[in-house]
Amino acid sequence: MEKIWTLDTLPKLKERVAGTRVLLRVDLNVPMRGDKISDITRIERFLPTVRELSHLGCKIILMSHFGRPNGKVIAGMSIKPLLKFLEAKMDGQKIVFLDDLFNQRTRDLVNGLPSGGVALLENLRFHAGEEANDKNFVEALAVLGDIYINDAFSAAHRAHASTEGLAHVLPSAAGRSMEAELEALESALDNPKRPVMALVGGAKVSSKLEILSNLVSKVDRLVIGGAMANTFLYALGNDVGMSLCEKNMTDTVFQVMASADEAGCQLVLPSDVVIAEEFAANVANQNVPIAGVQPNSIILDIGEETVGAVTECLSECKTILWNGPLGAFETKPFDRGTIAVAKAVANLTFERKLRSIAGGGDTLAALKTANALDSFSYVSTAGGAFLEWLEGRELPGVVALSG
Ligand code: 3PG
Ligand code: MG
Repeated sequence: MEKIWTLDTLPKLKERVAGTRVLLRVDLNVPMRGDKISDITRIERFLPTVRELSHLGCKIILMSHFGRPNGKVIAGMSIKPLLKFLEAKMDGQKIVFLDDLFNQRTRDLVNGLPSGGVALLENLRFHAGEEANDKNFVEALAVLGDIYINDAFSAAHRAHASTEGLAHVLPSAAGRSMEAELEALESALDNPKRPVMALVGGAKVSSKLEILSNLVSKVDRLVIGGAMANTFLYALGNDVGMSLCEKNMTDTVFQVMASADEAGCQLVLPSDVVIAEEFAANVANQNVPIAGVQPNSIILDIGEETVGAVTECLSECKTILWNGPLGAFETKPFDRGTIAVAKAVANLTFERKLRSIAGGGDTLAALKTANALDSFSYVSTAGGAFLEWLEGRELPGVVALSG
């Protein structure tokens, strides 16, 4: 691992802690189903860092993004509803909510925190300066803390103010969860047993598509599901009806296919899918071959034949890296493909035939629905960051912590 500062090595942390204000970047971008958190793994992973700093007597200011409000205040994307949940997870400890970054009251509230006290800042992406990694925004954050700890590996692929910029203006280190993620991924993927299969799905299509071109040189099989598969199917001349699909990404699709070819990576796309005329729970649906997709239909899951092909492919592999659900798994019955494949992975892992590593907020929620989460060899909280790490890219949030 690249040598990064940690809570153990950050100079003087242990000596000057009483009352030290720690800006702690966490990833509260948890998957939601309505107003319920559908998977709390991201929260559970950073709590040990909060507890450790709290026991040391630090004042902790939690910072995170939530969703993609694009620099605007969007009431539905406030981080405040998570406050009660966090307090409950921290045995009822009161957390001070800071809804405005820039006023004196916020600074007073932070300074007035007791030793071991915790505050939570409103969604940082309500400010354009966060994603722009704007110098003034970094400064505005920095005045609230004496040191900066990043415990959000899942956001480390973003060079934003709170994931990268702050590390340049304050003494900084990785939190326990960031440290553990890097260690686990390194030990799991350094020299993996082959064949290695990557299974990539989900809805954040365009950002992941770019990654695939590089990923194909690292893995032996690449299985594509979820909305991303629609973009591939469309580029190959299939009718995808009203499905989620990025029609302007055709060139990227061909580039991925060419790179796969060159690297000798076998690309596996769905041969059949589940379609419906509307996207809602328990609507009438049909399992059809790709050529059977109707112009007025929506592809919502991989089909049974595809599940069979993926399962067979799995049984020939020794390592699987999974990011992204294979269908619209939050809405029944479009969770079937993801659940079937998750169970197959869990069984093969249990039988020690497969090493399974999964990453991503939605992926974890899907695996949990399938009751498969605990059987995986390793589960990362990171989705996009996990993929970029697999690709071998340097993550700006990690690099910034290096000593
Ligand atoms: C994630 O959910 O992968 C992280 O929280 C990063 O979110 P982003 O893709 O919106 O930057
Ligand atoms: Mg996510």
